[in-house]
Amino acid sequence: MPNPLKNQTILLGVTGSIAAYKAADLASKLHQAEAIVEVVLTNSALKFITPLTFQSVTGRKAYTDADLWGGEGHVTHIGLGRAARLIVIAPASANTIAKLAHGIADNLLSVTVLASHCPLLIAPAMDAGMYDHPATTENIGILKNRGAHFVGPTAGHLASGLVGVGRMSEPQEILNYARWILSTGGPLSGKKIVVTAGGTQEPIDPVRLITNRSSGKQGFALAQAAADVGADVVLISTVTHLPVPVGASLVKVCTAAEMHQAVLQEIQTADILIMAAAVADFRPAKQADQKIKKDSGVTTIPLEPTIDILQAVNEYRKKTGYPRKVIGFAAESQNLLENATKKLQAKGLDLIIANDISASDAGFEADTNRVTFLYPNGEQKNLSKMAKSEVSEKVIEQVIEWC
Ligand code: CTP
Repeated sequence: MPNPLKNQTILLGVTGSIAAYKAADLASKLHQAEAIVEVVLTNSALKFITPLTFQSVTGRKAYTDADLWGGEGHVTHIGLGRAARLIVIAPASANTIAKLAHGIADNLLSVTVLASHCPLLIAPAMDAGMYDHPATTENIGILKNRGAHFVGPTAGHLASGLVGVGRMSEPQEILNYARWILSTGGPLSGKKIVVTAGGTQEPIDPVRLITNRSSGKQGFALAQAAADVGADVVLISTVTHLPVPVGASLVKVCTAAEMHQAVLQEIQTADILIMAAAVADFRPAKQADQKIKKDSGVTTIPLEPTIDILQAVNEYRKKTGYPRKVIGFAAESQNLLENATKKLQAKGLDLIIANDISASDAGFEADTNRVTFLYPNGEQKNLSKMAKSEVSEKVIEQVIEWC
């Protein structure tokens, strides 16, 4: 399950740009993600980097135009083009983009693209003036109309010394985009999954707030796992420093009240809600308009309860039937199963994931978790200690079973 890149043949086309050095990192990352990476370099790319670099990171032959006219040349491009599940061109020069837009096939890479039937992902890299040129804009438009995907370019320092838009996107971002393209048509295609992540932040005054130690990692991993199987993911999060899965939309919130509003809005059309957020149970009864000064001698901050979002979702679901299924988390430091079972029943959940936060290798800041799945019929599944990404895959396997 997940990892849509696993065992997929990805053809990486590398063209003439200084960003070609980053393509080696991309090839390495794709290889580490268990994709089968075929690399084709244009003659201009060879001015910046050698085939040996790519062979070293992918463990496979890297192709050049010399292979176009060799003994097997007449079939090389057909074989490469047909075998690919995805062609990624990174960096893509203005010249190669122009050739692809107009069906010009005068080197191994452009011939191979013409012979292929798979999706095409293009990561342009060029000087800002070339990127802005109407010819490039039109060529990109032609390719987009034909269904090609583009990632970047981004703004920053360019090889020419200018600052502008033209830098190739970072390899990780290109990989994430490739991952999303390959997840299309997965088992949760057409299903809307709403995931909440992170600890809510309840303001005391304009500079201080009450929050908790939730990192948001589990929620983001759940969003990625759902996106990996083709779901339409809405991530409602207090955390913004983690990478949002490509294809997922982020709704940024801070307080429990904002999260409540966003959840009620999104669940109206949702198949599944996964509440992985650590929602504050109490908030300051009154937020001070101005920074509280130490001279004022404040020694207590009166609190009031926040709304229980899952209780509110339960009420809404009884009336409308949406969302179809609801999953909650229970972070407990004692009496794990007893407390989690109470929450499962009180909040009307279809599954609760009980999480023992007293262990140092599980819980809020760790990358691993040790959880038990509890169902309304009393069924229990104990999962061994595993990465938060693996816990997420198990949750999404359950969601696939329901859908
Ligand atoms: N939750 C919620 N709204 C709240 C508090 C919690 O929807 N105001 C959700 C959490 O996102 C989680 C589940 O309820 O999925 C359990 O949260 P947890 O903090 O473990 O339980 P509480 O109900 O807050 O009870 P307690 O803090 O007393 O353990």
